[in-house]
Amino acid sequence: MNVVMVGAECAPWSKTGGLGDVMAALPKALARRGHRVMVVAPRYENYPNAWETGVRRIYSVFNSQQEVGYFHAYVDGVDYIFVDHPSFHNRGKNIYGGERGEILFRCALLCKAALEAVWHVPCGGITYGDENLCFIANDWHTALLPVYLQAHYRDYGKMTYARCVFVIHNMAHQGRGPFDESSMLELNDEYRERMRLYDPIGGEHMNVMKAGLECAHRLVAVSHGYAWECQTPEGGWGLHEVLKVNNWKLRGIVNGIDDMEWNPALDEFLKTDGYKNFTVETMVEGKRACKMALQKELGLPVDPDAPLLGFIGRLDYQKGVDLIRDNYDYIMGEKCQLVMLGSGRQDLEEALRDMESRNKGQCRGWVGFSVKMAHRITAAADILLMPSRFEPCGLNQLYAMAYGTVPIVHAVGGLRDTVKQYNPYDSVGTGWCFDRAEANKLRETIGNALYTYRQFRESFQGIQRRGMEQDLTWDNAASIYEEVLVAAKYQW
Ligand code: GLC
Repeated sequence: MNVVMVGAECAPWSKTGGLGDVMAALPKALARRGHRVMVVAPRYENYPNAWETGVRRIYSVFNSQQEVGYFHAYVDGVDYIFVDHPSFHNRGKNIYGGERGEILFRCALLCKAALEAVWHVPCGGITYGDENLCFIANDWHTALLPVYLQAHYRDYGKMTYARCVFVIHNMAHQGRGPFDESSMLELNDEYRERMRLYDPIGGEHMNVMKAGLECAHRLVAVSHGYAWECQTPEGGWGLHEVLKVNNWKLRGIVNGIDDMEWNPALDEFLKTDGYKNFTVETMVEGKRACKMALQKELGLPVDPDAPLLGFIGRLDYQKGVDLIRDNYDYIMGEKCQLVMLGSGRQDLEEALRDMESRNKGQCRGWVGFSVKMAHRITAAADILLMPSRFEPCGLNQLYAMAYGTVPIVHAVGGLRDTVKQYNPYDSVGTGWCFDRAEANKLRETIGNALYTYRQFRESFQGIQRRGMEQDLTWDNAASIYEEVLVAAKYQW
């Protein structure tokens, strides 16, 4: 098939979170299965390996004529098209920043430019626009794509056969605004009405994601658990009824990990500074070396027996960082080392700095984002804390397990799907799960993990090995996506 994956970020060119990783890895996995795959994302800055195609088009966005350019890169069997327009430039790290109207403008522009890229931008001399065309739109930023596809291209040459799968990575962002703003989107009343939602959170409002969910031919949520949760009032953020009505076309598919990028045996970041690559056979020595290297690099006391707890993630409400903060004294009292990496909400960034300054001998709070440190912490830690309040899929727990780091997770969404609770009496399990996002629940669970780590090291190593031995790669997920693409193709 011809697959066109569209999203607001794509690693390594742009990334704020897991969406960027999925945009990078799923297309490659689909290409390996023999599909022709194009990725369309904004050109936020000058990407040295992407060339100007010379193709320029004018689209009507917000009732005004906008000229757009296209840049192209070809990497690992995938065509990357970057949409060039001044509204994407100079955003720094803040690619989702700006007034609500500006953001909506960029989203509409991206969707229009992505829809027509398939005709106008030749890749290897040929274009993507034919009968076997399926778009994969990701998150609310691209929810207008299935809407424009239905509203403007349904009876339009070969595009009549184009289909769209919409992937839900996060229900918490939906593109809400006053209903009047939908008049800027150049849709007729039928499609504008699809954006109208009334709910207790927003009253009557415009909801871009609602229209996207209705117009897409198939829906994917990034885990089975999340596919279920987003149909509940707790997890649907106002759209649960819409999802319930449309659940006949909804499927949960757990994300994979890119094993070229996240593989302890090959990891480039473990080749220097005393770190070591390792496999499941050399896990014990390998992780010991990595732990000592990290302690040295961060200026913590070098002690391979001190339990090392890690946290990596955006600092916000979703990730439950405050639950770790509230257990700080307990963790210090247990003589653990705690290393946290992330950026986000200012008060939580402050909390990280504060925790570090209160106990420099046991704690590091690294504010910012560093791919290298994310890899090194993942390799060096014994335990990864992921107390997310909600988590559609979650990737860090997958990376952790691939690196023999035992995850402690709140049992929601993708975390519940991917981490199996450890049970000492039947030697199964890949981590610890707790059932309410509360500080005392997390504390109790850390206590259980430390008990196993200290008293039953062999059992702990069994958990580590089981985590490493799982197949967490994209290949399996990509084959399920393929089924969804085929189902979409036969959907009118
Ligand atoms: C979002 C979700 C996260 C998921 C990622 C990729 O960032 O919050 O749970 O893993 O998208 O699908």
